[in-house]
Amino acid sequence: MFNRETILIIDFGSQFTQLIARRIRESKVYCEIHSHMISIEEIKKLNPIGIILSGGPMSVYDENSPALDNNILSLQKPILGICYGLQILCKNLGGKVESAKDREYGKAELSIEGNSSLFLDVKNDSTVWMSHGDYLTNLPQGFNVIGTSHHSPICAIENKAKKIFGVQFHPEVVHTEEGEKIIRNFLFKICGAKGDWTPQNFIEESIDKIKSAVGNSKVICALSGGVDSTVAAVLVEKAIGDKLICIHIDNGLMRKNESEEVEKLFKDEYHIRFVHVNASEKFLSRLKGVVDPEQKRKIIGNTFIEVFEEEAKKIEGVKFLVQGTLYPDVIESVSVKGSSATIKTHHNVGGLPKKMHLKLIEPFRELFKDEVRNVGLSLNIPEDFIERHPFPGPGLAVRIIGEVTKEKLDLLCEADEIFINEIKAAGVYNNIWQAFAVLLPIQTVGVMGDARTYENVLALRAVTSVDGMTADWFRFDDDLLAKISNKIINKIRGINRIVYDISSKPPSTIEWE
Ligand code: XMP
Repeated sequence: MFNRETILIIDFGSQFTQLIARRIRESKVYCEIHSHMISIEEIKKLNPIGIILSGGPMSVYDENSPALDNNILSLQKPILGICYGLQILCKNLGGKVESAKDREYGKAELSIEGNSSLFLDVKNDSTVWMSHGDYLTNLPQGFNVIGTSHHSPICAIENKAKKIFGVQFHPEVVHTEEGEKIIRNFLFKICGAKGDWTPQNFIEESIDKIKSAVGNSKVICALSGGVDSTVAAVLVEKAIGDKLICIHIDNGLMRKNESEEVEKLFKDEYHIRFVHVNASEKFLSRLKGVVDPEQKRKIIGNTFIEVFEEEAKKIEGVKFLVQGTLYPDVIESVSVKGSSATIKTHHNVGGLPKKMHLKLIEPFRELFKDEVRNVGLSLNIPEDFIERHPFPGPGLAVRIIGEVTKEKLDLLCEADEIFINEIKAAGVYNNIWQAFAVLLPIQTVGVMGDARTYENVLALRAVTSVDGMTADWFRFDDDLLAKISNKIINKIRGINRIVYDISSKPPSTIEWE
């Protein structure tokens, strides 16, 4: 059992809960988010050095509002309540929470009172971010006010002896000027954190864990060549060497030369057992005549599972499957996950392990994407590989609007390569979350030399984003756009018009299908 220095975040459904975790991890302290329904036994098992109670959308007096188990308060751990977290603390401890006349939303100024260690070196009258409808009107016993704001006379409180703190504002959002310092004070000054959660430590721990879990069995990995599966494979190989076999399925829907590059990296650089399956014809024939995006996804997902299973069966003694699942996918949250409408079903191999009776190895279940990237860099995976833009499972199939054919794929691959090479040459690749070309099923009239052309329109898409959930279109320099457009139209027969997508997400999505 690993005894990791852990901060427990109890989630009351705030849209910022993940941000709290990000801020803590950025301070090199490990943390886990758990639902407010976590049992006291589970908390004792986690043995956190401190507990943060998140904000939440409800009022503590609402019917069915999430409750705080009083046993948590008897654990004698440092506690920081944020917004709803502060209010629920107060309610449980005998203070008073009332609904404010006006909801306070946006920026406010924090005036510090006294010299609480939570606000050590925090400047006075700094800007903080508020988002609440209730506020404290009476302190629980044993507490002092350590901060006020114009609308919240009790904006921050502490019980010094018990190390229980609460703030009405959100220190985790960037608009709170001194937020990072406040969180760091809680971690280092109050909880006594050491801050030793580094990629190197994570790698060492993971290697030990994987080694002891796997024993003498064999492990397979579906290697797409994306960042998560690549870093996972390299890490697992470090732990168990050639007991790992990577299966890479070329579905014919990848970017130009991508499959070859992945094979080269794995075979030549890492000397990892690598099976390359070229199944592009199978995928393409099944996609023939299909225009509906969801139908495409379904076909690609099912075909993937079928081909992968076929290959895996050829290897004897396989007991485990490596998957690059990330933390945001596993966070237990009280937010209404799953009730939103399905916009796109993302292709994955979720059905595989059960069907094949495999146990899962998910080394990144606890990590955020940027942490996986850092682990990758610590494993000496080349930076340009690690910084690659995300690429969807169904690949170029969802970037060809309408039916997918080999000819259209070739055209799109060429155009996409020019686009990506140009933005790399201009030095803006790393400022963009994702950039790609989309082939439209529309012909327009053009003129080339003295002749009329009637060819395809290509759309270019480039967006900035933090997590792919929301996105804005990237503001290119005009001259760069002009250069890209000229190059693509001049070089590629079949495209005579380029348009640039200037929609944000929402209301659009990043991919066109
Ligand atoms: P959207 O288009 O939904 O994309 O705004 C958000 C992010 O998800 C990627 N994406 C997919 N990834 N399978 C995947 O593995 C899919 O079917 C899929 N559809 C979209 C998209 O590239 C972006 O990063």
